[in-house]
Amino acid sequence: MKKRFTLKSIKSKSLNGIIYVPSDKSISIRALIISSICLGNSKIFNLLESEDVKHTMKSLQDLGIKILKKKNFYEVYGNGGFFEKPSNNLYLGNSGTGIRLLTGLLASRGIEITLTGDESLSSRPMNRIIEPLELMNLTIESNKGCLPLKIKKIEKKIPIPINYNLKIGSAQVKSAILFASTNIKGTSTIIENFPSRDHTEIMLKFFGADIIKKKDKIAISSPNFLKPKVLTIPGDFSSAAFLIVATLITKNSKLTIKNVGLNFYRIGLLEILKKMKAKISITNKQKINGEFFGDINVSSSKLISASVNKKIIPRLIDELPILFVAASFAKGESKFSGLEELKFKESDRLSSMAIALKNSGVNLEQKKNSLTIVGSNIQSGGNIVQTFKDHRIAMSMLVFGLASEKGIVIDDESMIKTSFPKFKEIFNLVGAKIEFLSK
Ligand code: S3P
Repeated sequence: MKKRFTLKSIKSKSLNGIIYVPSDKSISIRALIISSICLGNSKIFNLLESEDVKHTMKSLQDLGIKILKKKNFYEVYGNGGFFEKPSNNLYLGNSGTGIRLLTGLLASRGIEITLTGDESLSSRPMNRIIEPLELMNLTIESNKGCLPLKIKKIEKKIPIPINYNLKIGSAQVKSAILFASTNIKGTSTIIENFPSRDHTEIMLKFFGADIIKKKDKIAISSPNFLKPKVLTIPGDFSSAAFLIVATLITKNSKLTIKNVGLNFYRIGLLEILKKMKAKISITNKQKINGEFFGDINVSSSKLISASVNKKIIPRLIDELPILFVAASFAKGESKFSGLEELKFKESDRLSSMAIALKNSGVNLEQKKNSLTIVGSNIQSGGNIVQTFKDHRIAMSMLVFGLASEKGIVIDDESMIKTSFPKFKEIFNLVGAKIEFLSK
């Protein structure tokens, strides 16, 4: 049978320009959810229009929330946390954030709902949210810890707040607990052992929730009366990360990426890259709806190796695949440890990236939860990369191809639209060579 190839990236001379990246996926999903539970109409400017976000929007609409697209914003008709029982199952596609956050939100609302997703999402662990939600006397049935998730009616036991010691660095688990808590009388607390992105805490506070963070402890008290707001979503740092690394490893390149979200728990990549001698600076730093954003200026750099361990992982979890690409082109041996959580993403990203890089000529060693990469400024490429239907593997390896001798072909580009619509167009606008291959 003839193979079907989709995108090819080719060694590119230089990347230059001033550009914008699509809006932040994590913040977009939270903006829709939180707007839906406040009382009154919220306006969301710059909402990311990607597959993952559309699945959350459609689910909320299925639950009776009116969401209208206006000229340059979305209007969400929040109805104080009351949802209609949908006539169908809620389908969240590829979106771990969508399904985990909505399950938390809906579990304490007293309606029976089933949530499903695509093949990749169906194999991802859900016990991490079910466990704390059950401690709140909420009932969620699963298929051995995986999808579908069936939220049961609240019948026998009254929902109660919890004090939860969160041992994994997961913003999705934290958010599921916080959203469930918005409809449970009393104060719930979460101790974060590995602090992760705090978009939910920031946005709940912005909407007027009684939520306090002190060191590693978050406390939320309900009932909450959230007031409608006007929100603007900054650019997605995780999408900017592909352009940042592409610029660093391509000669004679200089790029400014405008209005990118700079939440402290998202930008661990910048800290590591700076230690790798990357030329990066931030300008025009500002705050909008509680979130920092600014312009990222980056130019070609002679990178040196990095050492990355468990503590910083939640702050760069989604950027690890592209950081592995940077390490492949850096001088010396880079060591990454504490990578357990990387295995539970849209694919097992530790294996997916190790296989992809090795087949592209990179000298590396993969262990259970660690990876060592011996970098070189010349990498061959010239192969077809298996993406395991994972958007970040697809984009990371296309960036690898831009700096490699023979380029990279990926087996499937269809998942890129879950987070970064117009990836190819934005890259080509600044001088990259990424082309479609006929299917
Ligand atoms: C996200 C949290 C992270 C991240 C994901 C988005 C979020 O997942 O990998 O892409 O928006 O809360 P975990 O909570 O599973 O670490």
